[in-house]
Amino acid sequence: MPRYRDELSHLRDRRGTRGPFFGADYNPEQWPRDVHAEDLDLMDRAHIDFVTVGVFSWARLEPEPGRFDLEWLDLVLGDLHSRGISVDLALPVASPPPWLGVLHPDSLPRTRSGTTLWWGSRNQFNPSSPAYREAARRITEVLVDRYAGHPAVAMWHVGNEYGQLSHDEHTARAFRTWLRRRYGDIDALNQAWGTTVWSLWLRDFEDVIPPRDTPYLVNPALELDFARFVSDELLDCYLELARIIRGTDPDALVTTNFMGFFPLADYGGWMDHVDVVADDHYTDPADPATRLTASLTHSYLRTLGRARSWVLMEQAAGAVNWRPHNVPKTAAQNRLDSWRAHAHGADAISYFQFRQAASGPEAFHSALVPHAGADTARYRAVVELGRELATSSLAGQAPGSSRVFFVHDWESWRAGTGRGRVTDALDPIAQNEAYYAPFFHAGQKVDIGPSTLLTDQAEPSGTAPETPYDLVVLPHQFLLRPELVTALEQFVRRGGQLLIGPHSGVVDQHVRAHLGGTGGGLLELAGIFREEPWPLAAPVAAAGIDDASMQVHSFVEVLRTTTAQARCSLTEGPLAGRPLITRRELGEGAVWYVGGLLEQGALQAVISAVAAGSGIDLAPLPDEVELIRRGDWVIALNHGRESARVRLGGRDIEVAGEDLVIRREPR
Ligand code: GLA
Repeated sequence: MPRYRDELSHLRDRRGTRGPFFGADYNPEQWPRDVHAEDLDLMDRAHIDFVTVGVFSWARLEPEPGRFDLEWLDLVLGDLHSRGISVDLALPVASPPPWLGVLHPDSLPRTRSGTTLWWGSRNQFNPSSPAYREAARRITEVLVDRYAGHPAVAMWHVGNEYGQLSHDEHTARAFRTWLRRRYGDIDALNQAWGTTVWSLWLRDFEDVIPPRDTPYLVNPALELDFARFVSDELLDCYLELARIIRGTDPDALVTTNFMGFFPLADYGGWMDHVDVVADDHYTDPADPATRLTASLTHSYLRTLGRARSWVLMEQAAGAVNWRPHNVPKTAAQNRLDSWRAHAHGADAISYFQFRQAASGPEAFHSALVPHAGADTARYRAVVELGRELATSSLAGQAPGSSRVFFVHDWESWRAGTGRGRVTDALDPIAQNEAYYAPFFHAGQKVDIGPSTLLTDQAEPSGTAPETPYDLVVLPHQFLLRPELVTALEQFVRRGGQLLIGPHSGVVDQHVRAHLGGTGGGLLELAGIFREEPWPLAAPVAAAGIDDASMQVHSFVEVLRTTTAQARCSLTEGPLAGRPLITRRELGEGAVWYVGGLLEQGALQAVISAVAAGSGIDLAPLPDEVELIRRGDWVIALNHGRESARVRLGGRDIEVAGEDLVIRREPR
C-alpha cells in the first residue's frame, strides 16, 4: 500500500476473458431461493461475471446483536462461484439494523439543529459513535473469518458511498481530537481561524463544537476544518474495516464506491487507500450536458486511480427514482454510457441493480431485470450489451494519461462554496465544466485531480521534477497553497502553458484572505495585480484577441497588469479599460489569466489559443459526437439520431446515429 499495480487488469487477466467485467449490485436477500435460480440463468445469458453482494444486508446477516445467520450467504456465494461469477463482497455497514438505534440511540446521527435521523430509511449511522464502530467491526470480523479466501470473492466493498456526518457530542469529541492533532495548541487554532472576529476566541479545545445552528454566518475556517474532519473520519471508518480484511488476507482487493465530485469526502486523500478505484455515476438521459459531466467525472476517477483501470460500480440501466421526473435511458443511451466509461478506463461496468426491487423505497428504480421480467426490451438490450462488451479490445489497454492537467482541489471547492461569498455565480464545479467543454467537444482527454499530484513530487530542494503535462488549467483555484505556486512556476519556466480562471488565489488553507493583491503569489506569477472582485449587475462588453468583442457576465475582477500583457480588456461600464484576459511569457512557457466569467464561445476561443501554445488542437467534433482515446484505440460515440462523419485513424468514418465505432489508431 499504496499499490500502483493495475489490480483490476490483473484480476481480469486471471479470469482469461477479453472484455471488462460486466455486472450489478445483487440483493438476493430480497428474494426467495427459487428466484435465485432464475437469477443465475439470467446472469449467464447476459454475460454477467461480477456482482456486488450484501451492501444492505446487515439485518439479514445479524438479525439480533451477536446472532449471525450466514447460511443463506454461503449458498449465494457458492451458486455464484459455480457459474464463474466474481463477487465483490460488501461489508454491510452503510445501513445498520434498527436494533442498533434501539440499543444505542447515540449511534444515530444528529443534524446541525440537533434533530436525530432515525431508522426507517438507510444510512442512519454516526461515524464517530463508539457503538456503531464496534458493531461495524464485529460484523466485519465475522464476514472476514468466514469468507476471506473464498473462491468466489474477488474484491471487498467496504460500506457504501461513505458520506454520513453528525453534529452530536461524539462528533464534537472526535473533532476536538482531530484539531488537537492538527494545531497542537489552542493559540495556533485561534490564529488559524481568525477568532478575534466576532469574539469567537476559544479558551481551550473543549470550547470547540461542530458547526451547529447559529444566528448568522459560521466562521469559514471552522466550516472547512469540519469538512476536512468529516472526510478523515469517514476514511477512518473505511480504514478500520479495511485493516481487518487485510489482516486476514493481505492480498485481498479492498475498495469502496466513490461518488465523483462529492462534497463530503476528499477523494484526493482517499485515493491511495483503495486497491481499485470505484465510482457510482448516474447520467441524466433528459439532459445532453450529462455527457460532459460524465466524461469529466470519469477522467477524475482515472486520474485518482493513477491511470489504472477502475470500476464503474453503479449506474442505471433505465430510470432512477430520485430526480423529480425520471426519464429512462433508451437502450442506446445505456449502451453509449457504458462504452464511454469503458473507454475512460473502467474495466468493470456494473449497475444498480440486477433485479428491480419489488418493494421498498427503490421499487421504481430501474434494474437489469425489470418488474416485467426477462421478456422485455430492457433485459434483451442488457444481454446484447453484455455480449458486446465481452469482446472489447479496449480492456487490455492501459487507461493512460493526458498532456493536460486540470487542478481540482476538494478543499478549494468546499471553501469556495460557503456562505458569505462575493457571488453565488462562481461555482467551482461549473467552472471545471466550462473550462473542460472545449476539450470535451474536441475529443481531447484531460487528467483532473488534486494539486498534490503536481506538488507532492517536489524534491526537498523545492525543484519539482518534470511533469508529464504540457498544459495545466486552474479553472477556479479559490483556495491556494503557496507550494502550488512554486510547482507551477517551474512548470511554466520549463515550457508549460498555464491557464488560470477567475477569482483564484483568494484565500489560504485557513480561508484567510491573501493580502496585497498578489493572490498568494499566483497573480504575481500571472504578471498581474488584483485590486478587488466585482460582481456585475448586468453583462458588459470586452474586446481583445483579434479585436473580437465578447460579453462578460456576472463577475469580473479589477485587475492591472505588471509583467503580463492584456490580451482582452473591458470596454464599457465603470471598469472600462481594465484588463480581462492577460498573458505573461515566462521562461519557455506562458501564464494566462482570465479575470471574469466569459460567455462559452469566448471562453472556447481563449482556451483554443492557450492549447495551441502546447500544440493541442481543439477543433470541435460534429455536435453529438464524443471521441475518446484509450491506448491504441479510439472510440467515437454518436449520441445524435443522424449519422455523423468523423476523422479516425487518418480516414473519414461514418458513425451511424445512436451508435459507436471503435478503430485502432496507434499513437
Ligand atoms: C446509490 C446507492 C445504491 C442505490 C442507488 C440508486 O448509488 O449506492 O444503493 O440506492 O444510489 O440510484
